[in-house]
Amino acid sequence: MTDHCRVCDAPISAFMSFGQQPIANGFHSPDETGDEYFYELAPAFCESCGTLQIIDQPPAEAMFHDQYAFFTRTSRSMVAHFGDYAAWVAENFVGGPDPFVVEVGSNDGAMLENFAKTGTRHLGIEPSDNTAAEARRHGVETLCAFLNPETAKSVVETHGNADAVIAANVICHIPDVQAIAQAIDILLKDDGVFVFEEPYLGDMVENTSYDQLYDEHVFIFSLRAVSAWFKPFGMELVDALPQGTHGGSMRYVIARNGARAVSPRVAELTARETELGLDKPETFDAFRTACEESRDGLVKLLRQLNAEGKRVVGYGATSKSTTVMNYCGIGPDDIAFISDTTPIKQGKLTPGTNIPVRPYEEFAADYPDYAVLFAWNHKAEIFANEGDYVAAGGKWITFVPRVEVITE
Ligand code: TYD
Ligand code: ZN
Repeated sequence: MTDHCRVCDAPISAFMSFGQQPIANGFHSPDETGDEYFYELAPAFCESCGTLQIIDQPPAEAMFHDQYAFFTRTSRSMVAHFGDYAAWVAENFVGGPDPFVVEVGSNDGAMLENFAKTGTRHLGIEPSDNTAAEARRHGVETLCAFLNPETAKSVVETHGNADAVIAANVICHIPDVQAIAQAIDILLKDDGVFVFEEPYLGDMVENTSYDQLYDEHVFIFSLRAVSAWFKPFGMELVDALPQGTHGGSMRYVIARNGARAVSPRVAELTARETELGLDKPETFDAFRTACEESRDGLVKLLRQLNAEGKRVVGYGATSKSTTVMNYCGIGPDDIAFISDTTPIKQGKLTPGTNIPVRPYEEFAADYPDYAVLFAWNHKAEIFANEGDYVAAGGKWITFVPRVEVITE
């Protein structure tokens, strides 16, 4: 399979395939199993610019709609993280008179609410109606739209240029990176910044966290990729800050060339990428082998525990887990149900694999022998809350960074 890099247009080809995959967030009712959308999940590494991307992505309409099942507010630690993120942006980049902050993919307003509370002019750009409506309920001004140059122009006409355009876990969802860079160029003041954080390629490779790859994540960025992306638009990477969120993320700060001092962190972290081999195709061949080993280990463990008559459930019906379950061929025979606190997912079945999603109360009412930690990115928060489960003899199964049973 050969295609072209979305960032630099060089030819690319997939270094592996995770097979046919459904919409990762496509939790469906038991009577809707017949009409699921499937596509091949095949990642490619661009040797020219270093961008890791998936070759085919389902159309945006299939992924983001009025039933979109992700609400930022379901995770207390993410809400706290967005409070810190907003404070950091406010302190560093939002100082002038009557500042204006735009968030791309503002979801339920958990981040922008921090600006709304201090009376800072702000606007969320969010394509899903139901999350946009929730944001408005929290006093966050929200435009229901996709970000593109046209949207950017209309925002500038009505609100003026932005001091900061911010985003979290959304830029890697958008395939048309050229349109995004143009829109950012239109939106920003001369000394404005674009700050975004996304799952980081270095962490994915180091931890074999292949579940970062699913339909919505068309890119897993690195410093090298982000620099290459903005270069043709007269913009540069001026800072990068590693984050612990979403299983290892990077916060990037982009500004117009020469408008802001470049932090020494940019050179340090870029050198670290070279040490990790993130510029070499062989690194991704090794990653493929590590994914296959992870898959085989997890399947073997689940089959063995079920053969022993153990009761195994899942914890956290994440989007990420869709890749794991479909790639590994895990179904309701391996995992009885997945516990999740998100009401819109409860009573539904997992995409492609038809495992029931049940309310958290079912997990708590009758502890299983083993729980697969699909929400491994919230491990600290979950382990802090689930002392009773472990005290009662419950065990955790994780697969990041390697397949293992955690008994504590
Ligand atoms: P999320 O972190 O958003 O991962 P992804 O981007 O892969 O979907 O999803 C976490 C899911 O786990 C979400 O559906 C809520 C659920 N969850 C619980 O059920 N209990 C918890 O304690 C936490 C932290 C999350
Ligand atoms: Zn490229």
